[in-house]
Amino acid sequence: MKDDDVIQNRKKLILALDVPEYDHAVELIERFRDVIDVFKVGLELYTVAGPAIISEIHKREKKVFLDLKFHDIPNTVAKAGIAAARLGVFMFNVHASGGLDMMRKCSEEVINACLRENLNKPRMIAVTVLTSMSQETLKHEIGVQHSLNTHVRHFAGLALKAGLDGVVASAREAAMIRTHCGRGFLIVTPGIRPSWAQPDDQARTMTPKQALNQGADFLVMGRAILNQSDPMKAIELIHKEIASV
Ligand code: C5P
Repeated sequence: MKDDDVIQNRKKLILALDVPEYDHAVELIERFRDVIDVFKVGLELYTVAGPAIISEIHKREKKVFLDLKFHDIPNTVAKAGIAAARLGVFMFNVHASGGLDMMRKCSEEVINACLRENLNKPRMIAVTVLTSMSQETLKHEIGVQHSLNTHVRHFAGLALKAGLDGVVASAREAAMIRTHCGRGFLIVTPGIRPSWAQPDDQARTMTPKQALNQGADFLVMGRAILNQSDPMKAIELIHKEIASV
């Protein structure tokens, strides 16, 4: 395999920095900077560490997926999106269940702000249905009567219509989303578990190889790497699995 292919393959793995302390996160960024290109900062870490942790990642010339899953009135989400763009993140997300207006306003206002302020436009993606949610939960707790697949497809279509760049979804829905939304639409898949890892609380998991075969562009992985006794070895195995697709 050529060096370029190896680099391209590596870019498909996003490491979730799901840790509760600033120093621990910095330690992980430092430890994995040579093998990881994009780090995901989620609710827990952002709540304790704030924008400073994003600077730590950027200082090392690495990219940030800001996974704060914005879900609020359109004006608030659009403002939060602009703030994320000003932080220079590579990608951020909103909940598709916030509706078309919310996603559209966010997309339009972020694009306008980026043009006005000469910022790099972040990839904006929508969470369809959380990968921890099962068909039963969706029906009995959330009250959605149609199937989980139909619900995901509907939300993916709505995100596309709103001008977003893609979605976060289970790899189990990736092939269907690809057919529905076309080739350029980004599909980011959490809930990835290599055959040797525990499922934890994820209900709709797939292996890295299966996910990529289904059309995923990025794999988000946290516990299946960080909870291993040798996380570097886990990353190496995942890179090999990605390269085999
Ligand atoms: O540890 P694990 O690999 O399950 O982590 C998955 C990460 O992806 C978590 O940070 C979780 O918040 C995030 N995520 C998810 N499902 C979504 C969107 C994001 O699991 N639909």
